[in-house]
Amino acid sequence: MRIHHVGIAVTDLEQSIDLYRNVFNAELVHRATNEREGLEAAFLRMGDAELELMAPLRDDSPVGKFVAKRGPGMHHVAYGVPDIEKAIDDARAAGLELIDAEPRMGMHGARIAFVHPKSVGGVLTELVET
Ligand code: CO
Repeated sequence: MRIHHVGIAVTDLEQSIDLYRNVFNAELVHRATNEREGLEAAFLRMGDAELELMAPLRDDSPVGKFVAKRGPGMHHVAYGVPDIEKAIDDARAAGLELIDAEPRMGMHGARIAFVHPKSVGGVLTELVET
C-alpha cells in the first residue's frame, strides 16, 4: 500500500491550482466536475503521489458542508490498493466502518471506497484501486 493522493478542500480552485503549480512544482494532470456530488476537482501530480483539490459547487454539497463547518483544509488521505474488493473485505474484517460497502467509480476513473474517519483516528480514508 502507498499514499495515492491527499484530498484538500479549497474555496478557490484556480488560485489553489496556481499555488501548488507555482510554489510546489506540482503538475496539473486532470480536472473533473461532479454535479451530483456538487464539487469540482483538480488532480496534481507531486512525485509519486497526487493532490486532489476539491472546491464545492454548492454550499449544501458534502464538500460545501465540510468547508462551512471546518474551513478549507485536509479532507482525506487515499491509499492505493491492488484489489479494491480485497481491501474492503480486509477493512471490514478489521472492524472498520466503511462508508462505501461496495466499490464505486471515483473522479479519476478508478474504483474507490471510503472508510469512516471514526475508524481511522479521525482521518477520512479512501481506498483507490491502482
Ligand atoms: Co480522493
